[in-house]
Amino acid sequence: MISKATIDTVFETARVEEVIGDFVQLKRAGSNFKGLSPFSDERSPSFMVSPVKQIWKDFSTGKGGNSIAFLMEHEHFTYPEAIRYLAKKYNIEIEETEQTDQEKANTDVRESMYLVSEFAKTYFHKTLLNSEEGKAIGLSYFKERGFTAETIEKFSLGYSPETWDAFTKEALGKGYKLEFLESTGLTIAREDRPFDRFKSRVMFPIQSMSGRVLGFGGRILTNDKKSAKYLNSPESDIYHKSKVLYGIYQAKQSIAKLNNCYLVEGYTDVIQFNQSGIENVVASSGTALTPDQIRLINRLTKNITVLFDGDAAGLRASIRGIDLILEEGMNVKVCTFPDGEDPDSFAKKTSHDDLVAYLEDNAKDFIQFKASLLMNEAKNDPIKKADLIRDMVSSISKIPDRIQREIYIQECSRIMDISEQVLVSTLAQLVQKDVAAPGKKPKQEYEQRSFEVIKNEDPEVLEKVDVLGNVERELIRILLLYGNKTENFEEILMKSNGEGEIIEVTEFKEQKVFQKIFLSLQEDEVEFASPIFKVIYDDLINYYLQNENSGIEKYINHLQSGVPAEVTTIMMEDEKYVLHDWIGQNIFPKTIEDTLNQGVSDTLFTLRWFLISEIIENLKNSISNEPGSDNMESLSMVMSYIDLRGKFSRKLGRVVVRYH
Ligand code: CTP
Ligand code: MN
Repeated sequence: MISKATIDTVFETARVEEVIGDFVQLKRAGSNFKGLSPFSDERSPSFMVSPVKQIWKDFSTGKGGNSIAFLMEHEHFTYPEAIRYLAKKYNIEIEETEQTDQEKANTDVRESMYLVSEFAKTYFHKTLLNSEEGKAIGLSYFKERGFTAETIEKFSLGYSPETWDAFTKEALGKGYKLEFLESTGLTIAREDRPFDRFKSRVMFPIQSMSGRVLGFGGRILTNDKKSAKYLNSPESDIYHKSKVLYGIYQAKQSIAKLNNCYLVEGYTDVIQFNQSGIENVVASSGTALTPDQIRLINRLTKNITVLFDGDAAGLRASIRGIDLILEEGMNVKVCTFPDGEDPDSFAKKTSHDDLVAYLEDNAKDFIQFKASLLMNEAKNDPIKKADLIRDMVSSISKIPDRIQREIYIQECSRIMDISEQVLVSTLAQLVQKDVAAPGKKPKQEYEQRSFEVIKNEDPEVLEKVDVLGNVERELIRILLLYGNKTENFEEILMKSNGEGEIIEVTEFKEQKVFQKIFLSLQEDEVEFASPIFKVIYDDLINYYLQNENSGIEKYINHLQSGVPAEVTTIMMEDEKYVLHDWIGQNIFPKTIEDTLNQGVSDTLFTLRWFLISEIIENLKNSISNEPGSDNMESLSMVMSYIDLRGKFSRKLGRVVVRYH
């Protein structure tokens, strides 16, 4: 187990904006950062990161928390995995405490699959570099392809020996369970003879964005027509072919930095490009591009350049990929290579500078690309030309942004020599059909729905508002944001004036906000009605009692089992306004910070006002209408409570309208 000291150091060191910045492209927005939600398919950013509060909030899904919560949510890490990941990122040495058998047993199935995959990666890599067979067969093959030692290291390339169970035997010997060797597909168990899936192949580990090994591709080295050239790990709990991109781990920084991603087909294309000094490249690994894969790139950049092999085979099918990219609201360019060349072979014989120049000169936008592809056969054939134009407009119709569509329409009009009007009306038909198609949700054409600003002072409506819930929420909000602030609070004391009369005296007293709230609620013997808020309240008070001088980031980091959505929602409320540019629209969110002491007192008064109203209601209901029943006591209680409530109302001046 990881020691408490290590965990503390990790928390002190990790910066939420840096951790998330490795996965999501963040842009400054005032004192915060914003980006596209990595948890939903969205086109306008609703994902906020607050460096000050050290939390993030995804307003599209409601998820949020600290950096650990992000890693658990995004990378599906367990808590210790997330700690280990951060320790590695920040070069913090991990201090281990002894693990009990129970703890060992608790390591879950997926974790075991990751572990066995990591072990396999290391095993294949060592076999490639150190064993005689590996060096003679695997390493010499890679050398022949022009891969340097550095490249082999960077992609953890490996070799799986010819013996039918070499890897399986080694893994079992090291204590890895057959169950996980099988579920990851590394081992195939037939009766009692488990054998290696990847026997005598060079190995390409497939890694997640954060570098975890998910699966493998293995390439055969002989020209055996009967066996597949590449063999891949089967789908499993940790490997979903349609959701990974080969090379994304090595490419992510460069993609974000250069704001472009090259998309190729194969493992070797990725590796050869890296070796030529182009790192922002990933491969769909021979399958048709999927929306999930595109979204993976979309987190890092809006720009994709698709690189096609020289031969036309499969080109048409791959064109569908272009429409998918456009549909995600991304910009797509296309670059082809000379006949007979693929990105791998072309990069291998071209210098870095020439390669960069080639890509720059030959990357066309998709309209030009489609035109160049089909123009020759369509030039003198009006029917084919019409088909081609329809095809282009169909692609344009996938673009969510109107302005961009307009620009492409103009370009199409120019290239194909056809009037814009005709194109626009064709486009309109297509867009309409698209929206009307059954089972398809209409695309959000314009900016997302603006927030409705409701102002309703009709008392009927006010009554229906959940006053208690809102007051409790307000108290939690105050505790979260200002709990440790010291304020001057008004106190009303009952004192004797020396002439035998009791009078109300107002005094001011310095107190921490959390103390004021805690003591007031204790005095009134009030408990939170909402179970969620009650848990959060108890937790927060406990935290403040023990950490009088700590900020709230520390509280968030103490919540090991995850931060409740309510907490992140409350804490990031101000940031939400940034997202919607309310300030630009002259709608100012209410804030109580300027008059915090007043705000706290008002909230507490409102709570009392509400609770007393409830008591009055209950008492009234208990008053019997039966003739002869004695209601005197109840009636006098109602009277005194109404009196008390009146006092609070006067104090508040404006009753509960605030919480609407
Ligand atoms: N592929 C596969 N199974 C095959 C053939 C191909 O999974 N039987 C996938 C691999 O991910 C491969 C990609 O499709 O990288 C592209 O195929 P191809 O162009 O044939 O392979 P290259 O990467 O060019 O491999 P090589 O140059 O080693 O022949
Ligand atoms: Mn090739």
